[in-house]
Amino acid sequence: MKALIVYGTRYGTAAEIAEEIGCVMKNDGAEVDLVDSKGLKDFDVSLYDLVVVGSGIKIGKWTKGSLKFLKDNKSALSERNVALFVTCGAANEEDKKDEARKNYLKKVAQENLINEPVAMGLFGSVYDPEIKQGLMYKVTMKFIKKELEKQGIDTSKRHDYRDWDEIRAWAHDL
Ligand SMILES: Cc1cc2nc3c(=O)[nH]c(=O)nc-3n(C[C@H](O)[C@H](O)[C@H](O)COP(=O)(O)O)c2cc1C
Repeated sequence: MKALIVYGTRYGTAAEIAEEIGCVMKNDGAEVDLVDSKGLKDFDVSLYDLVVVGSGIKIGKWTKGSLKFLKDNKSALSERNVALFVTCGAANEEDKKDEARKNYLKKVAQENLINEPVAMGLFGSVYDPEIKQGLMYKVTMKFIKKELEKQGIDTSKRHDYRDWDEIRAWAHDL
């Protein structure tokens, strides 16, 4: 099986997930191409049996690159098996998962794919006090820091809310 994994990331979280998905698939015997959607030009998806497209979420939105990839290849992807995944803060909280799945996966699939995806993965995010990004990042992190502190979580430390066993199992199933 030949698989293409296209990811869009702003802070590296989706990239690490995409890499792990690729590793699992390779171990399972698939031939895997891993591609950053940023600045991605024409891509021949007809070479692949399975296309996995993923993104991190910022203010409710996928990265421009991953969305563009879906839009540009809408017709070609209708003839392939397509799986979608996202990494987002909402996935860290049980009571926000359904809404996140609806807004960040089902809606994106409905708007950008002709056929139903074969799988949709909703994965958690990372809280890292060491990462220094732009103003928007700082403002968001300040808010998240407060929320975590309310839950008694030590915000001086990095917390990885990605469930790697769940991610590996998802990739293995694909
Ligand atoms: C500025 C900013 C905006 C964000 N907006 C959302 C959001 O609207 N919904 C959500 O669930 N998570 C949100 N998050 C959390 C990210 O989706 C999460 O950190 C994700 O893992 C980032 O993926 P990336 O590093 O691949 O870009 C936001 C994070 C930042 C820093």
